[in-house]
Amino acid sequence: MAQLLRRINSGAFSEYINSLKRFHTQSVRYSQQLNEQPANRPHLPVMAEEVLKYMKPSAGETFVDMTFGAGGHTTKLLESAQDIKIFALDRDPVAYNYAKGLADKYPDQIVPLLGRFSELPELLKEHRVKANSIDGFLFDFGCSSMQFDIAERGFSISKNGPLDMRMDGFRCPDQPTAADVLARADVIDLERILKIYGEEKQYKKIARAIHDARFMFKKLETTSELAELVNSVLLEDYRTDQLGRFSHKATKTFQALRIFVNNELNEINYGILIAQQYLKISGRLITISFHSLEDTIIKRHLTGHVTENVANTQPLKFSNYDKCFNEEEVAVVTSSPWMMLHKHVLTPSFDEIDNNPRSRSAKFRAAIKVK
Ligand SMILES: C[S@@+](CC[C@H](N)C(=O)[O-])C[C@H]1O[C@@H](n2cnc3c(N)ncnc32)[C@H](O)[C@@H]1O
Repeated sequence: MAQLLRRINSGAFSEYINSLKRFHTQSVRYSQQLNEQPANRPHLPVMAEEVLKYMKPSAGETFVDMTFGAGGHTTKLLESAQDIKIFALDRDPVAYNYAKGLADKYPDQIVPLLGRFSELPELLKEHRVKANSIDGFLFDFGCSSMQFDIAERGFSISKNGPLDMRMDGFRCPDQPTAADVLARADVIDLERILKIYGEEKQYKKIARAIHDARFMFKKLETTSELAELVNSVLLEDYRTDQLGRFSHKATKTFQALRIFVNNELNEINYGILIAQQYLKISGRLITISFHSLEDTIIKRHLTGHVTENVANTQPLKFSNYDKCFNEEEVAVVTSSPWMMLHKHVLTPSFDEIDNNPRSRSAKFRAAIKVK
């Protein structure tokens, strides 16, 4: 009670009530989305032709779609072969709900699973799935259109909403939101997050501005507030994307926060190890990544540059300047349980990029498990 009074006196109480009201509105809109079906939010699966070509689904096979999203890839797989079974995983309760909808349409073929990559072993155990038993694993990393499109999820620079960014939504209420990170991380940590996860060259300037904003009247609680702050700090900058189109100065800042809040890179590293554990020999692994941080982890796994279950930041043979490895040593160090099914990374066709600009930065890799 004394604490409550202190809050009232300090004016924090009304702020608290406002935040509860905001939370309520978000929950209402979020739960509306929970009841929707994917048909209301069409999502074009990226590089779907390539997925079918390399996954080669055939009758009786079992797959895990690690990033079910709106079910675009899963639906293509279901339509391309009879009698296949798909474990449809997603950490987002909205996606899980979509998966349940699809399971009604394809009874006995879809098993919806709610959880992160790192939670998959527990979930598969409940369905008595054993190691070395799955024919194909598919990963289509990043956010889904429905996560970007709903302002209340806080992923989008162009749609004003609370700085949330949790892919798990309200599933894990203790998980810090992007606003929590901006309010609590010290400058050094903010710099690290922006530099490593956002590959943002102006990380020092932005981190300092975020830190200083704590001492101003205006808190950083919405996507517009953060975007405006970064914009004001980088006034001189002019940025474009791969297609030469104007890109917002806060794009990398948003990417960095999203990756940090969702622990995305560790999840990817763990996800590939899990895929290796559950795939049969000759089982197929397909990954679609959208920025170099994701793709580097995949590449290191596929080429055997993994130490103590963690993908190395650089190929091992370059990690020690004093040592020159002989051929045998390199072979041991880079021995990989994977064999790539194509020589170079694949990217979407111009037609696909025209049709679906979200695919423009996609990098596709397919491999089979060889040991
Ligand atoms: C790009 S979308 C997938 C779209 C999907 N392939 C389709 O065609 O509809 C990525 C999805 O992966 C989910 N996701 C990302 N990281 C995850 C993780 N570590 N564990 C489980 N799901 C994850 C996100 O919630 C999102 O729904």
